[in-house]
Amino acid sequence: MSPRVAVITGAASGIGRAIAQRCAGQGMTVVLADINAARLADAESFIGRAGGDLYSRVTDVSCADSVEALAQDVFARYGQVNLLCNNAGVLQTGVCWEEPAPSWRRAMDINFMGVLHGVSSFVPRMLEQAQPAHIVNTGSLGALLAAPLMGPYTVSKMAVRGLTETLHYELRSIGASVGVSLLCPGPIETSMAASAAGREHPSPTARALMTELMSEDIVPMSPEDCAEIVLEAVAEGRFWIFTHPEFKRYYLALADELVAERNPQYRTAW
Ligand SMILES: NC(=O)c1ccc[n+]([C@@H]2O[C@H](COP(=O)([O-])OP(=O)(O)OC[C@H]3O[C@@H](n4cnc5c(N)ncnc54)[C@H](O)[C@@H]3O)[C@@H](O)[C@H]2O)c1
Repeated sequence: MSPRVAVITGAASGIGRAIAQRCAGQGMTVVLADINAARLADAESFIGRAGGDLYSRVTDVSCADSVEALAQDVFARYGQVNLLCNNAGVLQTGVCWEEPAPSWRRAMDINFMGVLHGVSSFVPRMLEQAQPAHIVNTGSLGALLAAPLMGPYTVSKMAVRGLTETLHYELRSIGASVGVSLLCPGPIETSMAASAAGREHPSPTARALMTELMSEDIVPMSPEDCAEIVLEAVAEGRFWIFTHPEFKRYYLALADELVAERNPQYRTAW
């Protein structure tokens, strides 16, 4: 039997690269898609070949044509995709009333439209293939909880959550052999976290908020441990994938506020 095929966007770094490495370790054929060609080449040699094929393709998830070309290429080569991780994303921070429209658009184009393009190009093909398939869309704690200074990121990730839940209901309603999960990582040690810490914010309001957020006691997880959690959840067909269960108390607190119609209280940066 030919190896199962995984396609991972944002695969040149961090969580995506770790998921790709784990899939390769399981003997899957792995397609690495990322906008950064140099980092893709590095990721390919970092992962090495362990069983199935390893294939990289430069892809800009914010561009529908680029993702459609990826899907065409992958299905022409391998005829199936068993795991699609719509993972590429960027952190876009700033105070709501100060952040210019292009900053909001960048977050939406990459974090939300990037996932939507994956769904649009891959799901119809996955529904036609003989083998079952699973999709993991990367949200964040920001897909469930808002936080100051995280406006563009939070808005884009909440949209990913809405899309992913809707997709789950629709796929279940037609009895499809395609499953879907929403990955909501807590803090993971990747270059995204480092770039957030280093971002220069122009206004005193933004600088004060960023100082407050960064002083919180957050224990990051390695991308490798995150990838292990993801693949276990996929194997079990779980929709919600959480890396840091300690944050569940904030979901409960939010649910309490909703039911009691109390004003939301900000409790955590993540
Ligand atoms: N690191 C965390 O703490 C954390 C927490 C919650 C959610 N996430 C999410 O996890 C996902 C992966 O992030 P990461 O932490 O591994 O960051 P990362 O910066 O290490 O990796 C992100 C990758 O996405 C790629 N990318 C960016 N724009 C792209 C585009 N337009 N098209 C294709 N690829 C593009 C980058 O080149 C990079 O290789 C993101 O969606 C992020 O929002 C991360």
